[in-house]
Amino acid sequence: MSWRDYWNADTPIYVNERHKTLHYGLVARDIAALVRSPADHVLDYGCGEALSAGRVAAVSGRLYLCDGAPLVRARLDGRFRGDPKVVVLAPEELGAVPDGSLALLVVNSLLQYLRPDEFEGLLPVWREKLSAGGELVLADVIPPGTGPLADAGALIGFAWRGGFTGAALAGLVRTALSDYGRLRTELGLTHYTETDMLARLKAGGFSGRRRPANLGHNRHRMTFVARPS
Ligand SMILES: C[S@@+](CC[C@H](N)C(=O)[O-])C[C@H]1O[C@@H](n2cnc3c(N)ncnc32)[C@H](O)[C@@H]1O
Repeated sequence: MSWRDYWNADTPIYVNERHKTLHYGLVARDIAALVRSPADHVLDYGCGEALSAGRVAAVSGRLYLCDGAPLVRARLDGRFRGDPKVVVLAPEELGAVPDGSLALLVVNSLLQYLRPDEFEGLLPVWREKLSAGGELVLADVIPPGTGPLADAGALIGFAWRGGFTGAALAGLVRTALSDYGRLRTELGLTHYTETDMLARLKAGGFSGRRRPANLGHNRHRMTFVARPS
């Protein structure tokens, strides 16, 4: 099983519906805050179920939701059918996004599931889709040395604030014993140092910087903002 296959099913990562709702609400709030103009076209790459994407669509001209998992896309199609601002796409359908049209392309919590060569292969594709002043935002990037314990601590903090601590503690055990725990051991997650990420962005034709705060709840992880150079 690859990570891409893994995500084509319900996962124990979200410990209950409240966790999932709060998670996607926070991510949508943070993405919406990055949109600079209501005419902007925005792409969320590896968007997941994007339960609160309506919040991002509300402040953008168009929102493309792109995910590799057919199950996730089917749910997005169901949720956003009839919404003229939202377009759901598979990664193989990115040709539908006009070159140079995106003001913002967000990739949140995906790079750890891609091999470095897969990430490198995506940089020119993303660059082609961005406008000259457009921004690529790579978020939730995991630095080396940040393992399951740090993630568990971040989740418990999020759960404490969100009122689902008991479910989070039970969920952490379920996740560790699930396919996620097995794949995390067998396939591993991809980590990047800040220096490595900035060098990769430069080699891919971007000028990038690290953003002081990560998107979402996990303060151990990093966010980078880059523009075509
Ligand atoms: C951890 S989830 C992140 C979802 C969302 N961005 C968030 O922040 O909650 C990773 C998502 O990336 C998708 N994905 C995995 N591999 C992918 C790939 N190669 N191309 C596009 N999407 C992919 C999965 O289907 C999954 O929905």
